[in-house]
Amino acid sequence: MDSQDVHDDLEEVLYTADQIQARIGELAAEIDRDYADKDVLIVGVLKGAVMVMADLSRALSSHIAMDWMAVSSYGSGTKSSGVVRILKDLDADLMNRHVLIVEDIIDSGLTLSWLKANLQSRGPASVEICTLLRKPDAAKVPIDVKYIGYDIPNKFVVGYGLDFAEKYRNLDCIGILAPHVYE
Ligand code: IMP
Ligand code: MG
Repeated sequence: MDSQDVHDDLEEVLYTADQIQARIGELAAEIDRDYADKDVLIVGVLKGAVMVMADLSRALSSHIAMDWMAVSSYGSGTKSSGVVRILKDLDADLMNRHVLIVEDIIDSGLTLSWLKANLQSRGPASVEICTLLRKPDAAKVPIDVKYIGYDIPNKFVVGYGLDFAEKYRNLDCIGILAPHVYE
């Protein structure tokens, strides 16, 4: 679906499908350069990172392996607590491999800082993070992120994998959800 299909629900389109593809192409070029001749495993965090993984992986010009994790963070209501449970673990062994975690968005950073430490404990050669979006004003823990698509305001966004109550993941752009949808 595109922004016209849900135009009443969006306050504003932040990034169009074309802008997202262009930015992902730039990130892929950086990753290709940084990881030349290395054994890379990209790890997607389900479900939000599905679109970024699909487009980023195809924009890379080198061989990579792909794996997936699903985690849930416990918290009160909509707030992330940093207490994370693994719902689906990796199939791959990380020993001596270069791991790149691919995320849709970093909000408080609690989930990802837990995940990064967890993967680091498995003996990889390196663990880095690539996220399409980051909300700098929402950060609760410092987290080192190597590749960032866009820094965005501290508003609730949907589309391109990001959901509200499992909707809007299949929206081709990224937009700010209008408050009347969730209030
Ligand atoms: P945190 O960084 O631990 O706070 O949690 C990040 C997770 O919260 C992301 O992976 C998303 O699933 C979800 N999330 C945070 N902000 C948004 C948003 O604006 N729209 C949709 N999901 C979000
Ligand atoms: Mg997510």
